[in-house]
Amino acid sequence: KTIHWIVDKLEDNISTYPQITEAAQFLSDNEVIAFPTETVYGLGANAKSDEAIAKIFAAKGRPSDNPLIVHISTVTQLHELTDHISEQAKLLIKIFWPGPLTIIFPKKEHSVSKLVTAGLETVAVRMPDHPIALDLISASGLPIAAPSANRSGKPSPTTADHVFSDLNGRIAGIVDGGMTGVGVESTVIDCTGEIPVILRPGGVSQEEIEAVIGKVRVDQALINQDEKPKSPGMKYTHYAPAAPLYLVDGEQKWVQGLINQKQATGQRVGMLTTNESASIYKADYVLACGSKNDLKTVAHELYNTLRAFDERKPDLIFAEVFPRIGLGTALMNRLEKAAGHKWIRQIDADDPNHIQ
Ligand code: TXA
Ligand code: MG
Repeated sequence: KTIHWIVDKLEDNISTYPQITEAAQFLSDNEVIAFPTETVYGLGANAKSDEAIAKIFAAKGRPSDNPLIVHISTVTQLHELTDHISEQAKLLIKIFWPGPLTIIFPKKEHSVSKLVTAGLETVAVRMPDHPIALDLISASGLPIAAPSANRSGKPSPTTADHVFSDLNGRIAGIVDGGMTGVGVESTVIDCTGEIPVILRPGGVSQEEIEAVIGKVRVDQALINQDEKPKSPGMKYTHYAPAAPLYLVDGEQKWVQGLINQKQATGQRVGMLTTNESASIYKADYVLACGSKNDLKTVAHELYNTLRAFDERKPDLIFAEVFPRIGLGTALMNRLEKAAGHKWIRQIDADDPNHIQ
């Protein structure tokens, strides 16, 4: 049975809470525990133990070639994981840690279980910006490997309820700290080469990174879906709700026409939109996901909204799209995956040469 530890007050020094000490003890005992970070819930275990890490892969049903992020609570812990911290990485750490930025370093030998890094010579490290995560890590005294606490392929969890519905009975416990803030995962940046490369867009945008260290590169696989991603996890389908999801790009009147067409054939249609347009669309299930004028609110709600469609069971879902600027890049990356890259564009429909 999975233990449910509730931490509903975050004001005081929470490291003295019995929930935290008990959960930390489970980590020291090589058990697997879910806990909140500022991005999404993580599924943590002792990064030094093969036995503990094997339990993460088993609970998630995660392919063993997909490495895990190691979570730390102090920069001192970083020196146990790597001997090579580039100047750019130092700057990124200074500005963005603790926070939603994961940095890839050359790995120090024997510092963590080989299962964590899936046999790679590099290690991904992040310092989460959440009091529960930080206190749990320091109370355990260990580097904590933690992927998102969902079953593989499902949207990442932003509430303890999401974790329960995916993993109840498969893990030792959950520290419930309420809904997470950022809502999408950390940005992953490889700092092992001359020019840093973004492998996964996330909570810190490319623009914010470049304001600190200058031009960076972006893994070509993020732009061209035929390229092989440098981050093993990016090749897997992800975030998909149960019903097929289509990204729709066009005027609202045209989108409403698509909804009407599908409804006319007896299908129940879901529309994933924002606060501004929720009252405009007429569909079977219209769910608003934040404000399009503040993409932080969209990121905060995205996975919760994708999971909410699963409860309503539409036959298909149409989703509004966002400009790929700032946080919009991460949102579109997750939506493209959720949709399996299925697009419907008004431009194509209006083009007499376009074959449907
Ligand atoms: O916000 C987050 O990053 C959350 C919270 C829990 O911290 N964690 C998370 O972990 O999203 P996960 O396992 O779902 O995603 C980790 C990503 C995967 O795409 C994985 O392939 C990549 O990081 N990764 C890990 N180690 C790597 C390495 N050495 N080289 C390249 N990519 C790596
Ligand atoms: Mg994940």
